[in-house]
Amino acid sequence: MGLHNKSTSEFRVLAKWFIMPENNGKIGTEIAPVGAREISISEFFEKNRHLLGYDNGIKALLIIVKEGVDNALDATEETRILPDVYVKVEELEKEKYKIIIKDNGPGIKKNQIPKIFGTLLYGSKFHRLRQSRGQQGLGISCAVLYSQLTTGEPTEVVSSTGDGKTHRYKLKIDVKKNQPMILEDNVIEGKDWHGLQMTFICEGTYREHKQSVLEYIKQTAISNPYANIIFDAPTGRFEFKRGVDKLPKEPKEIKPHLYGVEVGILHRMLKDTKARSLGGFLTSEFSRIGKTVAKELLKKAEIVDDKGEPFMMISPRKLTDSQVVSLVRAVKETKLMRPPTDCLSPLGMELIEEGMKKELNPEFVTAVTRPPAVYRGWPFQIEVGIAYAGSIDEPKFMRFANRVPLLYQSGSCAITKSISKTDWKRYGIQSEKMPTDPMAIFVHMASVWVPFTSESKEAIASYSIIIKEIKLALQEAARKLSIYLSGIRKAQYQAERKSIFERYAHETAVAISELTGRNADEIEADINELVKKNIKIMELSEQAKERIEKRTKTSIDEVSGKQEENAEPEEGEGESEEEKGD
Ligand SMILES: Nc1ncnc2c1ncn2[C@@H]1O[C@H](COP(=O)(O)OP(=O)(O)O)[C@@H](O)[C@H]1O
Ligand SMILES: [Mg+2]
Repeated sequence: MGLHNKSTSEFRVLAKWFIMPENNGKIGTEIAPVGAREISISEFFEKNRHLLGYDNGIKALLIIVKEGVDNALDATEETRILPDVYVKVEELEKEKYKIIIKDNGPGIKKNQIPKIFGTLLYGSKFHRLRQSRGQQGLGISCAVLYSQLTTGEPTEVVSSTGDGKTHRYKLKIDVKKNQPMILEDNVIEGKDWHGLQMTFICEGTYREHKQSVLEYIKQTAISNPYANIIFDAPTGRFEFKRGVDKLPKEPKEIKPHLYGVEVGILHRMLKDTKARSLGGFLTSEFSRIGKTVAKELLKKAEIVDDKGEPFMMISPRKLTDSQVVSLVRAVKETKLMRPPTDCLSPLGMELIEEGMKKELNPEFVTAVTRPPAVYRGWPFQIEVGIAYAGSIDEPKFMRFANRVPLLYQSGSCAITKSISKTDWKRYGIQSEKMPTDPMAIFVHMASVWVPFTSESKEAIASYSIIIKEIKLALQEAARKLSIYLSGIRKAQYQAERKSIFERYAHETAVAISELTGRNADEIEADINELVKKNIKIMELSEQAKERIEKRTKTSIDEVSGKQEENAEPEEGEGESEEEKGD
């Protein structure tokens, strides 16, 4: 049989055999498998919803509320509106819930609503480098997908941008096409408001334990003390009032830094750029690259013209694959200026302390904001707050990334690792790896790109520079707590002494009176006066006084007059660790 008689598929097999020497004379079977077809991202996540965290009913309710509230806070902050967020979780029947999330943000334009809710990987935050809660454009459409998957119900979206028109949609996702399926679309005229309201109907389980909707909202109220949040839970209403009327400073958008750019990305950027020359490309598309550095990089990468000079004028599209690889290598060997850090918006000490005070009512609170640092070209900043005793009666560890509480996968998170690697005892704090004293530890990582360990954004990856920064912040905050605690210990010692003198003043006065013949009442008054004059107890908050009184009562009989050592610790450890990148 000649080749011309073959059907197309037989021809393909033969052709492959001819051009693939590794077949060693055998006819290969590398023919496209029957039935192979493209998979839409929606189909992928429909089958793999656990990758986004939807692996049980309790978590499902938490994630939907979290995606809605995170978006509400992003949208209000971006438009500099003090956030008012309303959340309702209502049980419709066993394991079936209605979730409503409403905000006072800018709303979404009519033509954008279907795409945002009906297309996975559609959003405004992925392609810009700016600190925000959302990144991928997956959050809210996945909530729509999960709802329709578990109950078959569409999601209702009501929105106004403040132009007097309210748009109301009911929609689902066409999973095969990853496109919206609009079931209802109407306009209500004349209502004056702006914002967004979503209603999901989904399967789930409502609980109020440590990893629940309620805990997420409580922690959100701490890390966003400028937000008003009302939560109507199946168990009743919870209100979280704002403690400050000031938003944190607005983060600026930045350009990528060459340290974080890999070969594949650089390739694509070179193809897509509007710059006509390689020099123009490097200086305009990356942060902190001036002409001199660009030339230095090209020289190192041996991208030079006929005269051996850096080839700044070459078209970016003309770079060969090996030149791109050399350029990335040259970047690694060159010391570049760090990226600018005005893209970061840390909360700051005042807001952290305010958030912890208003929600935890502690006896003592302190906070630390570290200077910005950089991992793989991405700027980031670590903040720590410690709240001690008061209404806190057991240790509590709170992790945040761009002000979003992280409630799952604590064990694999850089924050937990850093807390357990800190030597708490050195600061007079009881611990078994993690502190065991009644205190709340708040750790926040702010970054334009938080390195989460998975799509479900539950834990921060353990880059050594991130761990180092968290530890330094923890040590600084712990140092402040230890100074307070040693003051308290002194106060307690004085209170115990005072109490003992007062207790025995009468008996002592009687004894002295017998020896000296002086009036016992006068002697007792003198003793009390002396005690008052000589034993000074520092100014304490009501909570600290209460705590000390309680302790004094229980330990008074054991007091032997031995003063506790002042356990003021030395400088923190770990300062010598070097940035290792990844
Ligand atoms: N409450 C809201 N108000 C205004 N815009 C919103 C709101 N929720 C979502 N959006 C817009 O929808 C986009 C997609 O949201 P989402 O799927 O959660 O992805 P991401 O938050 O990762 O960008 C956002 O980028 C934002 O532009
Ligand atoms: Mg989002």
